[in-house]
Amino acid sequence: MLWIMRFSGFFSAAMVMIILSPSLQSFPPAEAIRSSHVDSYLRLPAHMPPAGTVDRFSFRRAAPFHNANECNSNHSGISRDRSVCDPSLVHVAITLDVEYLRGSIAAVHSILHHSLCPENIFFHFIVSDTNLESLVKSTFPHLKFKVYYFDPKIVRNLISTSVRQALEQPLNYARNYLVDLLEPCVRRVIYLDSDLVVVDDISNLWSTSLGSRTIGAPEYCHANFTKYFMAGFWSDKRFSGTFAGRKPCYFNTGVMVIDLFKWRRLGYTKRIERWMEVQKSDRIYELGSLPPFLLVFAGRVAPIEHKWNQHGLGGDNVRGSCRDLHPGPVSLLHWSGSGKPWDRLDSKRPCPLDALWAPYDLYGHAQ
Ligand SMILES: *[C@@H]1O[C@H](CO)[C@@H](O)[C@H](O)[C@H]1NC(C)=O
Ligand SMILES: *[C@@H]1O[C@H](CO)[C@@H](O)[C@H](O)[C@H]1NC(C)=O
Repeated sequence: MLWIMRFSGFFSAAMVMIILSPSLQSFPPAEAIRSSHVDSYLRLPAHMPPAGTVDRFSFRRAAPFHNANECNSNHSGISRDRSVCDPSLVHVAITLDVEYLRGSIAAVHSILHHSLCPENIFFHFIVSDTNLESLVKSTFPHLKFKVYYFDPKIVRNLISTSVRQALEQPLNYARNYLVDLLEPCVRRVIYLDSDLVVVDDISNLWSTSLGSRTIGAPEYCHANFTKYFMAGFWSDKRFSGTFAGRKPCYFNTGVMVIDLFKWRRLGYTKRIERWMEVQKSDRIYELGSLPPFLLVFAGRVAPIEHKWNQHGLGGDNVRGSCRDLHPGPVSLLHWSGSGKPWDRLDSKRPCPLDALWAPYDLYGHAQ
């Protein structure tokens, strides 16, 4: 009942809404994590509070977006039905978490803004504690999307304490379960964190070749890979032996292109879970959801151009610790680290690059 603690301020109001709202009462219990019908958008536990009741979730409506003429020319005559299984769609998965909601909305806004064919993008939103569907609908009225409920219980027993509490949110682990959550017809998905904006056409990232690999991400082979695991990991061959025969490099799991068919066939969800179990008994790393991904995929990642993840812009939120861009072109700006641009802008102490996030912010009441 995590949400009760986090929502204590409006708990009673939310309870009243649940009692009064017949549509919420009719949701079946969440015994499965995949929503059962393409057309019924969501399957939520009955206790979940609707978002519309809360002032904190106030976003302006985004400007309408439309496909350029050249977008639809290639499949005239083929089904006009743009359901989630339409093979011409670009699929993007993002979590919608109450804490990072403003960031997720800005990310979606940025993607639509820079896309030549925004109507060809299908968004898969993963939620754990609040039904945010009506909020998405009112902010982006014509968006193609679906909301999926990720049950925190699935990972709660697998999460061990990490150095930063924010890294322990169950929703951080949802990226490991996309194969179980999304419609089985979705072959490829771009997974994106909530603290980033895309400033290029996302279809360019979508069309990246993965070769024989299951996931693609920018790799950083100059980063000191040793530090992501503890000394006890490296000295124990049962553990460090997993990297035998590979050249592991750091990559950031906040931007990944994933072949879901291959992932499912090769059983990567279980492989990642197995390392989380090792972590519980032997404590082999300090960070949260990243190290198990490194254990399974480092050295087996299709390298994607670095411009698709200019990460680290969050810095550590200490004054004067603002980060700069890495050299080279920029298609995606990522405020990974503990400082977030919306917090720094609100506190009137922004970093210079936070100004690049601000244009995509839709937070606040309509004028
Ligand atoms: C349409 O098809 C042509 C040729 O097959 C290709 O060059 C072009 O990029 C396609 N356009 C879109 C929007 O997919
Ligand atoms: C990498 O990090 C480890 C652990 O922090 C350290 O012992 C090692 O000297 C570092 N290696 C390099 C090349 O900096």
